[in-house]
Amino acid sequence: MSSDWISAVRAADIPDNGCVICDLDDEDIAIYNLGGEYFAIEDRCSHDGGDLASGWVEAGCAVCPRHGARFDIRTGRVVAPPAYEDIHAFPVRLVDGMVQIRDDRD
Ligand code: FES
Repeated sequence: MSSDWISAVRAADIPDNGCVICDLDDEDIAIYNLGGEYFAIEDRCSHDGGDLASGWVEAGCAVCPRHGARFDIRTGRVVAPPAYEDIHAFPVRLVDGMVQIRDDRD
């Protein structure tokens, strides 16, 4: 775990209702833009490891392209099966046009 904020991506480079991947300690994190608000979640579906960033965004949820599980992008909560475990949502802040994230896991 790191308590440091890292500059992950320029906000302008994330399309609305889209995401980009950044690396956080060798782990892919998906950073989403929902109408100008930014959120970061693990890019790994808790069902069977699907790459969420390769899926799509629907009603504020990341839809896994493999079997259709849905996760609330704001919280990481699973909202539709076949996944049943939440994924981690990371703290995000915007500084001088850069989206910064922080690993707050134990
Ligand atoms: S791997 Fe995501 S729903 Fe199965």
